[in-house]
Amino acid sequence: MKSSELRQKFLDFFAKHGHKIIPSASLIPENDPTVLFTTAGMHPLVPYLLGQKHPEGKRLTSSQKCIRTGDIDDVGDDTHVTFFEMLGNWSLGDYWKEDAMKMSFEFLTKELGIPLGRLAFTCFAGDKNAPKDEESAKIWESLGVKKERIAFLAKEDNWWGPAGKTGPCGPDTEMFYWKLNDKPAPKVYDPKDKNWVEIWNDVFMQYVKDENGNYLGASQKNVDTGMGLERTLAVLNGKENVYETDLFEPIIKKIEELSGKKYEDNKKLFRILADHAKASVFLASEGIVPSNVEQGYILRRLLRRAIRYGRILQMPEDFLTYLIKSVVAIYKDACPELAENEDGVIFIVRQEGKKFEKTLDNGLREFGKLESVSGKDAFNLYQTYGFPIEITEELAREKGLKIDIEEFKKELEKHQELSRTAGAGMFKGGLADASLETTKLHTAAHLMLAGLRKVLGEDVYQKGSNITAERLRFDFSYKEKMTGGQLKDVENFVNGIIKKDLPVSCEEMSLEKARELNAMGVFESKYGEKVKVYTIGSGDNAVSREICGGPHVGRTGILGHFRIQKEESSSSGVRRIKAILE
Ligand code: ALA
Repeated sequence: MKSSELRQKFLDFFAKHGHKIIPSASLIPENDPTVLFTTAGMHPLVPYLLGQKHPEGKRLTSSQKCIRTGDIDDVGDDTHVTFFEMLGNWSLGDYWKEDAMKMSFEFLTKELGIPLGRLAFTCFAGDKNAPKDEESAKIWESLGVKKERIAFLAKEDNWWGPAGKTGPCGPDTEMFYWKLNDKPAPKVYDPKDKNWVEIWNDVFMQYVKDENGNYLGASQKNVDTGMGLERTLAVLNGKENVYETDLFEPIIKKIEELSGKKYEDNKKLFRILADHAKASVFLASEGIVPSNVEQGYILRRLLRRAIRYGRILQMPEDFLTYLIKSVVAIYKDACPELAENEDGVIFIVRQEGKKFEKTLDNGLREFGKLESVSGKDAFNLYQTYGFPIEITEELAREKGLKIDIEEFKKELEKHQELSRTAGAGMFKGGLADASLETTKLHTAAHLMLAGLRKVLGEDVYQKGSNITAERLRFDFSYKEKMTGGQLKDVENFVNGIIKKDLPVSCEEMSLEKARELNAMGVFESKYGEKVKVYTIGSGDNAVSREICGGPHVGRTGILGHFRIQKEESSSSGVRRIKAILE
């Protein structure tokens, strides 16, 4: 069976049972700051599981894009992947256990034709928060499941949610498939036997976890189910692992072609590389850019590990571009947004490649000198050579060296604390830290102000700014919405100066002198007698001169490409721009 057939079969089946098919939501949760990614089909539905009316009604079904990074060390085994699709059906206060389980059973045994002999089931064993789920076990039995194929397990196995820190959750019943073809399924189900692969989960959401960790009875009882598309596809095709399906095979083949090596001889490397390439494409396609925080850091880690694996497999330069194209081709119908964003994704991935390849060799050389890896060594590799800790850990494992992770964590915290302090103390100009990315955006903000004054006139003044490693936010005085043309002109101005690679210089002078030079800035005595003036360009050809505490880059050429993402009203007479460097 092809992935497209299974996806369609599932959605059609539930549509036939009165469910509306809804599209996959973004991988970046819109309403949940407590998690980085959408990790389950129910995630985008949380407001509706909590009682809001869904415009499509009470029965929904979807194939949802998900990312899970918690199991990253298991990626490359038979069943774990970073990006996957979850097929799901939901009852929002509509049907309950019996109907939900009957539909699951019918789909597995009739639609997919899985023999009952290859299935096993688990139910919730009960604890102080919720009783043992005898009801589910009885329902399975009524459908013909033998008692010995049903196990009752505790909360860590048979309870699902909330997806974030708080929200809807409840006991679940899970469905397992016996994956071996050459050995019949044992009569009695043993939950510890890894040859039983979980393929589907029906969650009975009758609780809501609150901020204090209490489980409160939900006002609306919902059913939330999730079937792993990749796993189910694999087992239906008699495969023991998800990598030998049409959702991975083209990437694996491409790696064979580019490396001249065989998958059979390098299974783990190939699988991890294929997995990371795929997840990176999906993340970059959502507008995530590699960085040192949050989603951006996950993308960076995935890409850098992929780049190192490419190196080990002696792949040609730019190999990731070819893998990106394989991923886009696999999902051309199911996720057409990948094809739409392909150029942008390639651009982002290439840039990260350029950055990391420069430091990778030097870092590897540095690592080669070590006889054991102290936390300080690991931190040095992280800070100076951009090695995410997983890479250093992996290198240490490969060479049989000890590594002090705890000390690394302490070093990292110390560094973060230092930059926070620096951010709070020195850089009152709205900078989040003193990283290179932040510093570059700070210089870009000066150029943008100069550009705004050129395009909109000399009435434009800075009203505030907030700069992080990801983006700059800049408020300025101006009375109306800027046109697309004006925004382009400002961008072109800034990018023009970047191309010219002008020097940025800093001079201390008296306030008087700064005023004489027409430096921009707040002329208040709070700056003290002397002020620092940053000039971009030199002499009469200077394009920007501002009173500012810094820090700034040395030359504009390093900034890359400047892009305005958004222009909007901030308050009356004040506009706000969000912009990035890429
Ligand atoms: N939300 C449930 C899961 O992810 C269905 O397993």
